[in-house]
Amino acid sequence: MPQASPPRLFFRNASQLLTLSGPPVPRRGLALGELGIIPRGSLLTQGETILRVGSTRSLEREALRLRAEAIDCRGRVVMPGFVDSHTHLIFAGSRVNDYELRLRGKTYEEIAHAGGGIQSSAQKVRKAGVSSLAQQAAGFLDQFAAHGTTTVEVKSGYGLDIAQELKILRAIRMLQARQPLDLVPTLLALHALPASFHGRSRQYVDQVTDKLIPLAARAEVEPGFSPARSALKGGSTSATTPGSQAPRERLAEFIDCFCDRGAFTVEDCRRVFDAGRMFGLTPRIHAEQLSRTRATRLGIECGAASADHLDKLSPADVRALAASDVVATLLPGANFHLGLKQYPPARKLIAAGAAVALATDFNPGTSPTLNMQFILSLACTQMRMTPAEAIIASTINAAHALRRADRIGSLEAGKQADLIVLDVADYREIPYYFAVNHCVMTVKRGRVVCSR
Ligand code: NIG
Ligand code: FE
Repeated sequence: MPQASPPRLFFRNASQLLTLSGPPVPRRGLALGELGIIPRGSLLTQGETILRVGSTRSLEREALRLRAEAIDCRGRVVMPGFVDSHTHLIFAGSRVNDYELRLRGKTYEEIAHAGGGIQSSAQKVRKAGVSSLAQQAAGFLDQFAAHGTTTVEVKSGYGLDIAQELKILRAIRMLQARQPLDLVPTLLALHALPASFHGRSRQYVDQVTDKLIPLAARAEVEPGFSPARSALKGGSTSATTPGSQAPRERLAEFIDCFCDRGAFTVEDCRRVFDAGRMFGLTPRIHAEQLSRTRATRLGIECGAASADHLDKLSPADVRALAASDVVATLLPGANFHLGLKQYPPARKLIAAGAAVALATDFNPGTSPTLNMQFILSLACTQMRMTPAEAIIASTINAAHALRRADRIGSLEAGKQADLIVLDVADYREIPYYFAVNHCVMTVKRGRVVCSR
């Protein structure tokens, strides 16, 4: 069914309109705190795009002439939708048992050794069909949208074999067609060694490089293809099959590895990244979370879009990251949920000049939150980021981490109309009044997808 194009919307009179406008590079140092605020600001959309941003007075006449639908934002903050650049959205059930065991004194690694952890999620995924995986995730995506997130990176990784990983990637693609948020698929190719490969990690990595990666990077014809919907979607990863006009979409865009103590070595991960890059998948890496393994250096060497976690960075790692194009993505939700006292060294990274981003790490084992506003509170209170830095880290810098900053992450004319309205008059209240949802409206590609 062809859909009508989104209406013209006029968001008027926001107490603060956070544009985050600036040069098209990741924000570092002082620029990490520059929100480009327009007091009593307004924004006009046309279709999926932002037409104009400015003071309410300067836009009023044009909005009237275009008969744009006015949305009164008095006393409220308008800002770009959150970009959650690190999630493990597709899993089955939960891990509440692990949670309770940990509260009773067991560590994350002890629970994993005893058959809990990632392996137990993999067992549940194996039993679930692709539609039921998508269905659980769809419920979460409604919540992401309600909390102001408009783009979500989604990793596979709870499959632990070729068929299961592909099943997860297909669930992501199925979801993309069924709900409004943009999903960015990542093949988490090395997450945990399956029990059947115990002592044979080399063979497992061989299977990933020789079989899984080529299949995940291959374009597949979308099942249940509808030409009308595909015309609306566009996107750089689609190709057209000659003759049939059916779109072919790659199942994954990025490739990730859990490079850590108890997971995979730098050499395993390097092989996987090299193979992934041959198939056009851009690396991103779980680095230095549980121990320092030089994973961050590997990420830099392989041209990773981001290195994530970074709890155990050395001072030289901090400098190397700052000198690189790799976005340093911090995931304080995991530290919070695991009850850790130490958080990643955000201030050191910012002082050194690294491009810092924030994400939820939404996953059943270490960070079951999808609320980016709460991540901002953790970033400020636990890592001493300023509210402005936390906002930039969770929007435009996260968009850079997903290589989409040309389209999303700031409110500038010509960019995608992905924005949120928050029921606070001053942006600092977002992290300050913590653990509540301030988002009252979510706009995705020019359409209101959530409002209350
Ligand atoms: O990002 N570190 C590895 N992966 C996830 C946790 C996965 C799990 O425990 O299920 C993370 O924290
Ligand atoms: Fe993760």
